Amino acid sequence: MRRAAEISAEAHCRAMKISQPGLYEYQLQAEIEHEFMSSGASSPAYTSIVGGGKNGCILHYIENRDRLKSGDLVLIDAGCEYQDYAADISRTFPVNGRFTAAQAAIYDVVLAAQTAAIDLIGPGLEYNLANEATIRVITQGLVDLGILEGSVETLIAEGGYRDFYMHSAGHWLGMDVHDVGDYKIDNHWRVYEPGMVVTVEPGIYISPQNKTVAAKWRGIAVRIEDDVLVTKTGNEDLTSGVPKTRDQIELLMAS
Ligand code: GLY
Ligand code: MN
Ligand code: MN
Repeated sequence: MRRAAEISAEAHCRAMKISQPGLYEYQLQAEIEHEFMSSGASSPAYTSIVGGGKNGCILHYIENRDRLKSGDLVLIDAGCEYQDYAADISRTFPVNGRFTAAQAAIYDVVLAAQTAAIDLIGPGLEYNLANEATIRVITQGLVDLGILEGSVETLIAEGGYRDFYMHSAGHWLGMDVHDVGDYKIDNHWRVYEPGMVVTVEPGIYISPQNKTVAAKWRGIAVRIEDDVLVTKTGNEDLTSGVPKTRDQIELLMAS
């Protein structure tokens, strides 16, 4: 799994470095999958998702046929299978290498949600704490940006964030990308044990048709996904080989 994660991280770096306006989504897919196969992976672990601009709002977008535009983000969800084990990484970066102010604001909320969630993964901690952390940080962030209105507690209790964050924070990862394993036992959330691997993948997706938000936000989609190993003392991010802060991404894309 460590090697699957390393290869997949390298493939995302390759896509960031080569990205430019005018390329087609499938050309970034080709770069990613070239890196997988030339590094000894047997195949992608699932159909690679490369969604430019509003295509990032379509959770299982696999057409990958559109042209990438300057000023848009591109959301890539791709991981390889290596010696029967899967990796599962998402990164979102600006096609032209520079985030706009609106994209940066959304990006930083998703990254803060992911960081808060990863901090809650370790032996003895309940599975769902990380998911709850992503909901709280995303809801607070959307309120702070004026995208949601109302009390954070009420929005969380009533699911008011779900128009923007409609999936959960992750899943078991192993020989399958959505690996076997219970999430609850006897109606109680499972407790992490060393050796488990889980994805952490919060996102914010603002539909281009959403007239309740200011026009500048519409069509922005961001997901950040890493593969986290539970260790004896905490956790280890197996996919840290691909940058995820805005500064790191912009630096790599400029190199
Ligand atoms: N790539 C599939 C998933 O993130 O669940
Ligand atoms: Mn996943
Ligand atoms: Mn994924």
